[in-house]
Amino acid sequence: MKKYAVLILLVCQAPFLSAQDMAETPPMGFMSWNYFGTDISAEKLIEIADAMGATGMVDAGYDHIFIDDGWQGGRDNKNNLIPDPDKFPEGMKAFVDSIHKRDMKVGIYSDAAPLTCAGFTASLHFEKQDAKTFADWGIDYLKYDYCHAPEDVETAQTRYTTMGDALKESDRDIVYAACEWGQRDPWKWVSDAGAQLWRTTYDVRDKWKNKSDDDNAMGIMDIVAINAELDEYAGPGHWNDPDMLVVGLYGKDGPSGDLGGTGATDVEYQSQMSLWSLMAAPLMVTNDVRDMNDATKRILLNEDILAIDQDSLGKQAKRKINDDTWMVFVKPLSDGDYAIGVLNKSDKGQKFKMKLKGLGLAGTYNSFDVWSKAEKSKLQKLKDTIASHETKVWRLSESQKP
Ligand code: GLA
Repeated sequence: MKKYAVLILLVCQAPFLSAQDMAETPPMGFMSWNYFGTDISAEKLIEIADAMGATGMVDAGYDHIFIDDGWQGGRDNKNNLIPDPDKFPEGMKAFVDSIHKRDMKVGIYSDAAPLTCAGFTASLHFEKQDAKTFADWGIDYLKYDYCHAPEDVETAQTRYTTMGDALKESDRDIVYAACEWGQRDPWKWVSDAGAQLWRTTYDVRDKWKNKSDDDNAMGIMDIVAINAELDEYAGPGHWNDPDMLVVGLYGKDGPSGDLGGTGATDVEYQSQMSLWSLMAAPLMVTNDVRDMNDATKRILLNEDILAIDQDSLGKQAKRKINDDTWMVFVKPLSDGDYAIGVLNKSDKGQKFKMKLKGLGLAGTYNSFDVWSKAEKSKLQKLKDTIASHETKVWRLSESQKP
């Protein structure tokens, strides 16, 4: 009798176990929105996928093509979602197959209302049917947006749960990414609705900082202000998502170029990469990977910063200091090392000096600067000159216990 009870328990838990195993590290890839907007096509995305293979991005871990808004062509006479035939002439299954053949996965996009943010057909009342369609196409990830939906949290919980349940019932593991922009504290409830990650803010624009009165015009620093406070909610299978990387966009026209998104400097882009990695964020590049300059490649392909983002312990860094000049982050890593990030927020270069004890690290440490690759041994304090808007990141290994 007892044996059967255990068996039933195991069988009943099986789908949930597999769902919990999804997105054990923050998802990575290319997301179409900031560069292409709705002007996407199978042809362009396959070019991007090929460029990602050729430049080493797939090997570095950027293994998804995330199709954002604008792929939809409505519903057929059986109400099945169909892609726009001009953009995906061979159909979506053929597109997904061609990406899978390149050892990459595919993300798709819908919305918990009748229409998406850009006004295309969305999934409200068709959740089960659409989840099945996505599974049949071989989709690996769903970004589920919240435009044209009521503001209250109860409706959001119901709508996200309905799609979460539909995905669980589909016969495929599909990572579920909620996108209600952090407006209803999704970090507190949306993983119960089945999501493995959730946007914490409005859309990132291609700039360092918002200088207007418009809360929607967020730059890198405005996003950090919100996301850095949410470290306790992150971990394997449940991630804060501070939106896409703008690294290498240099003020490109399009969604991230709106609302004053006129571009940032390479130092600032490197800071975004550093801060996103310290915060264990999903890394969705949005620049044209078919045409990357050396600075962009150096930032996106730095394996030491990527190892910090993708560390299997899955801790988001704690922000220990946030004064007028400095932000200091500490991220424990799976091998016992610590990643320390120091951002100079001010408008001029500054000398940074701090005892490691002040960050709770009482021993003696060897340090490795993940950007300059400089190594130092037997440290009890950190000391360096840090440029305006630069984030230094060190990996510290204990060389002597306190
Ligand atoms: C919202 C989302 C963006 C993007 C667009 C698409 O603004 O927050 O990330 O998906 O919709 O229309």
